[in-house]
Amino acid sequence: MTSAPARHSRIAGTGSYLPPRRLSNADLVRQLAAQGIETSDEWIVERTGIRARHFVDAGVNASDLAVQAARHALEAAGCRAEDVDLIIVATSTPDMVFPSTAAIVQRKLGVHGCPVFDVQAVCSGFVYALTVADAMIRTGSASAALVIGAEVFSRILDFKDRGTCVLFGDGAGAVVLRAGDRPGIVATDLHADGRHVDILCVPGTVSGGQVLGDPLLRMDGQAVFKLAVGVLEDSARTVLGKAGRDTAQVDWLIPHQANIRIMQATARKLKLPAERLVVTVDAHGNTSAASIPLALDVAVRDGRIRPGHTVLLQGVGGGFTWGSVLVDF
Ligand code: ACO
Repeated sequence: MTSAPARHSRIAGTGSYLPPRRLSNADLVRQLAAQGIETSDEWIVERTGIRARHFVDAGVNASDLAVQAARHALEAAGCRAEDVDLIIVATSTPDMVFPSTAAIVQRKLGVHGCPVFDVQAVCSGFVYALTVADAMIRTGSASAALVIGAEVFSRILDFKDRGTCVLFGDGAGAVVLRAGDRPGIVATDLHADGRHVDILCVPGTVSGGQVLGDPLLRMDGQAVFKLAVGVLEDSARTVLGKAGRDTAQVDWLIPHQANIRIMQATARKLKLPAERLVVTVDAHGNTSAASIPLALDVAVRDGRIRPGHTVLLQGVGGGFTWGSVLVDF
């Protein structure tokens, strides 16, 4: 008896989009100074590696950024929106309480019929969404998925809290994931530890027609920092172990772009040379669920990531959530 050939998923195209309004550290320092908040380019660069971020204008939502990134990914994959049979949007800053941002993206792409939903895992959202899409493709529930990370964190920042408002930016990244007869996505590894919900959260909610509680981002930066470095190393080793590979076989490490020091510490622990780390946090800030697909698209389009390369994607964020996806291009 012959068994059916194994079904896998492959990244067929990438895309990204940044809103045009760019704020350098100097721009932000000036804006905050006008409100009596003191910070400096030196502090931000030294502690985080961030030099600039992009913010949306009023009236622009996560779905608007997502659609632009999705169009670029579809074009790169040579795929029409009509051919997509699954749309997943990873976001913590959805357009509405409901329906999902993915449903709004589907409408804006002018298609209908395929399943659509959002994944909420904060800065790990994209690796969670990619893992779900990979599983749905491998089991035959989908053949061509749009997996998007899109965020407008500028909407949930407290511009009176200099410890957080300098860290984040807005943007979107997307991939088209297609069924194929060889991987593609080689292995995945996801985790969460709900004991740490409080160290990174937007604790407010909508209730009885009004905002209940605090609707702005709160973070214990040092607690996040310590947890992030440990879990990223563990998850990298786990996903490589599942694939039967070692770090020497990783061409590019694309961690969540939160802080250059977390990223460099992870690369050091994995004994990966700094040249194999893709860094966009300097230009984008922390764009949460959008940061990994944004960095991926930058490195694909500038020619660093080429066919035959192996890329390790790593997310970490609120929840506390973390995970890795190992991808062959
Ligand atoms: N400008 C100037 N000074 C500042 C600023 C600022 N923007 N922010 C804080 N400070 C001051 C503090 O008030 C404090 O002053 P004090 O010593 O007089 O009290 C001093 O700098 C040190 O503050 P810390 O919070 O201890 O600074 P730390 O070195 O921990 O750096 C940071 C803060 C950058 C947030 C760091 O903790 C970090 O990177 N943590 C990880 C955060 C992260 O990656 N979050 C995202 C991951 S998950 C997700 O993406 C959603």
